[in-house]
Amino acid sequence: MHKTLSIELTVYQASDMHPPEVPQMAVAGRSNVGKSSLLNRLAGRKQLAKTSSTPGKTQSINFYKVEPGGYYLVDLPGYGYAKRSKTDREKWARLIQTYLTDNPWLRAVLVLIDCRLDPQASDLELTAYLKERKIPVLAALTKADKCSKREGQARLSQWQDILGGVPPLLFSAVTGQGVEAVWDQVDSLLWQDPENG
Ligand code: GTP
Ligand code: MG
Repeated sequence: MHKTLSIELTVYQASDMHPPEVPQMAVAGRSNVGKSSLLNRLAGRKQLAKTSSTPGKTQSINFYKVEPGGYYLVDLPGYGYAKRSKTDREKWARLIQTYLTDNPWLRAVLVLIDCRLDPQASDLELTAYLKERKIPVLAALTKADKCSKREGQARLSQWQDILGGVPPLLFSAVTGQGVEAVWDQVDSLLWQDPENG
């Protein structure tokens, strides 16, 4: 069924963090990996979330309500972009950490990873942190249109070995590869049966 995403809330400061009390999944990953582009592609809208070829575009935490489903997808600022000022990086790290810590409504994190790159220290840190906190991880390898089939498959099995659990997916915001697979996984993790919720 076709889904719509609508922006419900934007948070700029850790001190303003009051996540809505509904099931939610965050979209996390290094700056420029394609978080906002994935959300636009899932929504079938080009300009829902702002994207840019310059890393560091998303500077706030943006909550999108998904209907049907009644849950939220949450676009986070990227991490690991060295050219930002130290103050900015610390501010975003605190914002992201505040969101991820002690949030009883956070059901899972969709971690985006560039299919062209070897696992980066910051990706391994994030996935280890989530594992430690027992937050389920769904990994999507982005920019699949830029990877050969062979490279994509090798990357999938590399991440499967690292993460275990739900197998990672290949995704492209350009071709739409993986859109259905991501929706299936997101729905199965978040869509609550109102009777048994
Ligand atoms: P921050 O908000 O800075 O953390 O970045 P982000 O992870 O939200 O990335 P964004 O969606 O803004 O995309 C960054 C750049 O990558 C843009 O130039 C996008 O057009 C490009 N991009 C995103 N997804 C894909 C993809 O699947 N394929 C290709 N070829 N380019 C992509
Ligand atoms: Mg973004």
